[in-house]
Amino acid sequence: MRYFAGIDVGSLTAKSVVIDEDNRILGSHILGIGQDSLKAGMDAYREALNRAGLKKEAVSSIVSTGYSRKRFTEAAVQKTEISCHARGVSAVFPNVRTLIDVGGQDSKAMKISREGRVLEFAMNDKCAAGTGRFVDVMANALNLTLDGLSDEALSFKEELTLSSTCTVFGESEVVSLLSQGQSVQDIAWAIVKSIADRIVALVKRVGIEQDIAMSGGMAKNRALVARLEDRIGFDILVPQEPQLMGAFGAAIIAKVG
Ligand SMILES: Nc1ncnc2c1ncn2[C@@H]1O[C@H](COP(=O)(O)OP(=O)(O)OP(=O)(O)O)[C@@H](O)[C@H]1O
Ligand SMILES: [Mg+2]
Repeated sequence: MRYFAGIDVGSLTAKSVVIDEDNRILGSHILGIGQDSLKAGMDAYREALNRAGLKKEAVSSIVSTGYSRKRFTEAAVQKTEISCHARGVSAVFPNVRTLIDVGGQDSKAMKISREGRVLEFAMNDKCAAGTGRFVDVMANALNLTLDGLSDEALSFKEELTLSSTCTVFGESEVVSLLSQGQSVQDIAWAIVKSIADRIVALVKRVGIEQDIAMSGGMAKNRALVARLEDRIGFDILVPQEPQLMGAFGAAIIAKVG
């Protein structure tokens, strides 16, 4: 049996996946970037190998992806996140035609061909609104974990709207809404709606075609996925480990090129 690895070093987290020839994930790991993206990527890879019960020498080929992919000289090839997420999600959901990847700093929407190739993509500008960073700041202001924010949002009672799309102003607005006595649930839902609006605008740029799937850490936010399904009008498929899809796709590319 031959083994392959993908290392995805994004703006917030480092992810690594080790697979076998049948695309089975034998080991994986997710780590915060901290101050050194190269170290975080290598640590994530080492732990993924550990969990797979394999030594470095057993791996035939490595592909790196994500923001810091060029720092990985051990990797045979460096590929963009867009191609890796598309490849990973297509392996899980072969009929995916529209893919939404929302990470810590970027939101991307892709149109995917029958063969799993990216035909078109749209990306957010440099602004953090519409990305994980926006939710992270807001969750902190509400003193909630990321899962907590999603759970609270799903039990909202009243429709509130955030007027600021900017992360900095949005944070002050959240603090102000709290001081006015608005409930955490309603504020959390307003945050989810605000980010969903941004993402829907992005998906419309590439066109919406079924099947639709979502990857990246933000796909773990159930309230966000629910709101997006509502706005788009179709179900969204979410892989079991959405945050690992870039690293998984990179490992598949390491295998087949
Ligand atoms: N359990 C969770 N529930 C909700 N959201 C989560 C959860 N875990 C992580 N996230 C979100 O995922 C985001 C990070 O996603 P990901 O790891 O895909 O980013 P990245 O690849 O480092 O960033 P980018 O692709 O933009 O460079 C965080 O900002 C956070 O909001
Ligand atoms: Mg990413």
